[in-house]
Amino acid sequence: MELSWSAALSAEEGRELAAQLFEETFGYQPQDVWSAPGRVNVIGEHVDYNGGPCLPIALPHRAFIAYAPREDRLLRLVSPQTREAVDELDLDRIAPRGCEGEVSGWAAYLSGVAWALEKSGYGPLHGFDAALYSCVPRGGGLSSSAALECAMAVAIDEAEGLGLAGSVSEPNDAGRTILVECARMAENQIAGANTGGLDQTASLRCLSGHALALDCRDMSVEHIPFDLESQGLALLVIDTRAAHSLADGQYGQRRADCEEAARQLGVEQLVDVEDLEAATQALSEERLIKRMRHVVSEIARTRALIELLKEGPLEGDRLKVVGALMNDSHDSLRDDYEVSCLELDVAVEAARAAGAYGARMTGGGFGGSAIALVDRERLEETAQAVAQAYSERGLDAPAFIVAVPSAPAGKL
Ligand code: GLA
Repeated sequence: MELSWSAALSAEEGRELAAQLFEETFGYQPQDVWSAPGRVNVIGEHVDYNGGPCLPIALPHRAFIAYAPREDRLLRLVSPQTREAVDELDLDRIAPRGCEGEVSGWAAYLSGVAWALEKSGYGPLHGFDAALYSCVPRGGGLSSSAALECAMAVAIDEAEGLGLAGSVSEPNDAGRTILVECARMAENQIAGANTGGLDQTASLRCLSGHALALDCRDMSVEHIPFDLESQGLALLVIDTRAAHSLADGQYGQRRADCEEAARQLGVEQLVDVEDLEAATQALSEERLIKRMRHVVSEIARTRALIELLKEGPLEGDRLKVVGALMNDSHDSLRDDYEVSCLELDVAVEAARAAGAYGARMTGGGFGGSAIALVDRERLEETAQAVAQAYSERGLDAPAFIVAVPSAPAGKL
């Protein structure tokens, strides 16, 4: 069966395509091109907004933004999809979702970052012209929107001399933490998706060759070497291509369930639950028990997996346990958190049956992508098995990516 692999653009290709679109649209050359990656989360799902730990890596797939500041406060935005109709916005009129001046579509992610930087005291900013060219699969649960926000954040940072981002080789981590907050504000308030900080942190603060152990209680990070290739392993990403949107109600409902469970348990966040048994007894509704059980058990699994990675190479029992933790994570997201779907479950089951050490959905769920930890030499075979299972179930063919931990947002 012919497989569809979604290749990443090289830095040169991405720069060139974005700059070309800029020049064709606006009739002059951009100041420069900045970019930011999508991510996969190895484990630690739906725990960021509960103060728990996550373990993302940055993908080689990036959003590229060719950018030039303007003398006025106008924003003109173009992407290959909107070539014919450039979005024009006024920086003085942008307003949160539901208010006059709200911004719809992808322009919300870009303009929202400028808005958030000004709200956070980093203004007044110039208006700008910007052309976007992204190879992060859209709606793939791989943080395509965070990639836009973070590319925008580092572009404005450098062009306006804010001094927050540093460079890709010498990132300013404290400054990037501020940019994460601004990118998240853009997503929460201007785009109207009430997400936690996992995606933006991954895009801005990951390092190439490493996984990022992120503690969402205080947003502190630790970089953990994650070189699967040298260990004969690979992380296969299966983009189900099933519809996926975080701005719809389900994500918000899960958050609300967690907040209600925390309230009933008298803790600030579910990360503070120490005794799962006692918490189960104390909650009133089965639904809240299930949500809480996922969060508390996922936090324990994530901590365990991070410790195993620190212990040494993924081989023997260590590899088996890591795989089992990933499997348990998926099962808990499917059964207790109820954010999986048929396409994700079929991908995960087929990958496991084909010999993956572990497989799970990644990201918000309801479509999007799954990941499978496999022997490097079995990558193709595993992808074939998943594609076969999709075809047998009458599902549209999935797309595949090999996740190699890559560079954070900046100028490549
Ligand atoms: C989405 C959100 C993140 C996080 C994940 C689930 O990707 O943007 O903040 O909550 O879902 O782990």
